[in-house]
Amino acid sequence: CLTRHYEFNIQMKNVTRLCHTRSIVTVNGKFPGPPIVAREGDRLLIKVNNHVSNNITIHWHGIRQLRSGWADGPAYITQCPIQTGQSYVYNFTITGQRGTLWWHAHFSWLRSTVYGPIIIHPTQNVPYPFEKPHKEVPIIFGEWFNTDTEAIISQALQTGGGPNVSDAYTINGLPGLLYNCSSKDTFKLKVKPGKTYLLRIINAALNDELFFSIANHTLTTVDVDAIYVKPFQTNTILIAPGQTSNVLLKTKPNFPKAKFLMMARPYATGSGTFDNSTVTGLLEYESPKLLHHSVKKLPLLKPSLPALNDTTFATKFSNKLRSLASPQFPANVPKKVDKHFFFTVGLGTNPCDKNQTCQGPNGTKFAASINNVSFVQPTTALLQAHFSGQSTGVYKANFPFSPSHWFNFTGTTPPNNTMVNNDTRIMVLPFNASVELVMQDTSILGTESHPLHLHGFNFFVVGQGFGNYDPNNDPKNFNLVDPVERNTVGVPPGGWVAIRFFADNPGVWFMHCHLEVHTSWGLKMAWLVLDGKLPNQKLLPPPSDLPKC
Ligand code: C2O
Repeated sequence: CLTRHYEFNIQMKNVTRLCHTRSIVTVNGKFPGPPIVAREGDRLLIKVNNHVSNNITIHWHGIRQLRSGWADGPAYITQCPIQTGQSYVYNFTITGQRGTLWWHAHFSWLRSTVYGPIIIHPTQNVPYPFEKPHKEVPIIFGEWFNTDTEAIISQALQTGGGPNVSDAYTINGLPGLLYNCSSKDTFKLKVKPGKTYLLRIINAALNDELFFSIANHTLTTVDVDAIYVKPFQTNTILIAPGQTSNVLLKTKPNFPKAKFLMMARPYATGSGTFDNSTVTGLLEYESPKLLHHSVKKLPLLKPSLPALNDTTFATKFSNKLRSLASPQFPANVPKKVDKHFFFTVGLGTNPCDKNQTCQGPNGTKFAASINNVSFVQPTTALLQAHFSGQSTGVYKANFPFSPSHWFNFTGTTPPNNTMVNNDTRIMVLPFNASVELVMQDTSILGTESHPLHLHGFNFFVVGQGFGNYDPNNDPKNFNLVDPVERNTVGVPPGGWVAIRFFADNPGVWFMHCHLEVHTSWGLKMAWLVLDGKLPNQKLLPPPSDLPKC
């Protein structure tokens, strides 16, 4: 195993898309940002130097961060932000993970431009449990805004309405030929006939789950969130913000007389506004015989994608995801549960501030909550407050196990009172507790799929369903044999999902909806996992360069 050094200079860069030039926050002037490439077992030292006027932190999405919570990155949860002119070295080891993950800014909406892939190869001489690919290609979905996303979100939070939607989706930073001024800004994947390509797919979009398909080609899903799955073939994949997936693309045996579009557009179940446009890339076969101008003339084939609200497809797709559960890659699913939790996730409202005209429902502000607690970001980092024993005034360790009042969560008559409670409350877990968490979507202000992301852990998705969760009957159908293991899961619209995990990682761990608008509205909370008794079950001490608030 190696120690790998990276330097991330946070700097402004002029970038033009859709004929709009914006000065955006980048890492090393790159958009999307540079890849981190490592092997399972490697240690990473990534020095982040902040040269812009915004505060920033970087999160290594999906990295377990065993005992190294100081390097996890969410602002005011595990660290204070890196201020202008300051530096911080993220120091962590990749343990028991291989596949594709990603990194992104974890401060306000800066992740709209500050993101990139994390590529983790298996340990030396350990093969993939599938055919060795000819080539590996990252495919990162993002969103492009013609105006500054920091201004968009702060205006939305003040006036209480929904923020503006993006102006385009992107593949590797490029909107593709269906958008204005973008025919040159189209991602091209050049392939050879009869080969296998490994696409490392990342959804870095701010606010949309996406369907993705390539015309006349089948994809084989082999991994999600850096965990191998039982391979299955599909024309279309569904990927939520925060999720990653490795898929194999087998090219046609002979040179085909066509070019093929790859396309992504949203799976959008909410009633709010969303960008319903389509991003495209090109799959082109390289032929030594065809001249450049005759390649240009080849017909262009389009894939067909599911409808925007195709929850039937979404359900079928997620039911196909199964972990390998093999002797080499066992599924360590908690069979007995020490701690049961039932969390409602959904929208709600906050009163309008004096002297404001609010654009949310009935003159209120939009909010979102878990068990009706809308998380208030503290002004100092939770992990530091916990470690130094100074939690008073920072957080309360009394997050509710279940909703304070029960109602027909997914019924057509939601409660009259849609107001949320604003507070900084966290849930404490003893070391190594086995946890079952059921997350129930509510129909308050409409049902919607919420991709919930848990920092510091992978979890097993043991069950899901529609309507209200039934604690007496639904557990009978839980899959404890080969459930998919991941770090971000979609709570079905008007439904529920059940996950299990062992709380084997001491520290403070953020959990939130990975739709950035819902995070901003308060759909987030934190778990505090206490130290275990043995020396190797304790959170490591903070590094000396940890930023101060
Ligand atoms: Cu990908 Cu808390 O984030």
